[in-house]
Amino acid sequence: MSYRLINGKEGAAQVTAELEGRLGELRGKGVNPCLAVVMVGDDPASHVYVRMKGKACDRLGIRSLTRALPADASEEELLSVLDGLNGDPDVHGVLCQLPLPPHMDERRVVERIDSLKDVDAFHPLNVGRMLIGDPLFLPATPAGIQQLLLRSDVALEGREAVVLGRSNIVGKPIAAMLMQKGAGADATVTVAHSRTAGLAQVTARADVLIAAIGKPRFVTADMVKEGAVVIDVGTNRVDDPSSEKGYRLVGDVDFENVKHKTEAISPSPGGVGPMTIAMLMQNTVKAAEIAAASKGIS
Ligand code: GUN
Repeated sequence: MSYRLINGKEGAAQVTAELEGRLGELRGKGVNPCLAVVMVGDDPASHVYVRMKGKACDRLGIRSLTRALPADASEEELLSVLDGLNGDPDVHGVLCQLPLPPHMDERRVVERIDSLKDVDAFHPLNVGRMLIGDPLFLPATPAGIQQLLLRSDVALEGREAVVLGRSNIVGKPIAAMLMQKGAGADATVTVAHSRTAGLAQVTARADVLIAAIGKPRFVTADMVKEGAVVIDVGTNRVDDPSSEKGYRLVGDVDFENVKHKTEAISPSPGGVGPMTIAMLMQNTVKAAEIAAASKGIS
């Protein structure tokens, strides 16, 4: 069967182009949007993500700053950096790259970020607003998935969406978003995970399958219904001695064997990843708009 490739780079370029006008308006009012990214320690993947976020800001002319703390920094030091960024009127978006070192309390840290600057939308206040269908910011990866589906004309209304994975960053929020009323939603949502009985039968019910379980090539062809739409959210490092880095990135889906069964499939890398960054840029622009409005700049 022939399948469509859902390309995240194209969608991300569209989202980014749509931000230009809003950025122009903000600049016209003397507002120069700024994103602050805080990271702690030396997680190699986090370094890559933080650099990508900075580059995306550069491309749009958004100011960005990075605050890097050593792995043995205390939680108090981190909270004090966040307090400084919260109180800085020239900083509009603040995020703390996860994971944090084990001696830090992730929940306490996330809750310290001003919810009006919380461009990751991880603060419980923003999670709650999203859940009740009145979001301020939407989390970037789930928002990127939803935009990919919308822009690829994937029908969701009344259809079976199965989310594989239950993380706070992807599984739980995308499930909540796809069950809301409205465009790019109205789906019948099932959340499956590592403890789900008869997992392959559950995923095989999906008209739209979102794979976010964090296990390389976990979704095999027998787990996918003929004609389904599959979105691969996984980015797993697997050893590859033939590559210069010694590893390569693979998704949660066994792409080569699954693709022929699908109506459309979004690969990883190259699918959701670029959309995530674009949605973070969108949230940063929104945070600057919120700040401008609160100062009566209109
Ligand atoms: N670690 C993995 N994904 C994310 C993300 O979207 N935001 C932050 N801050 N950390 C992450």
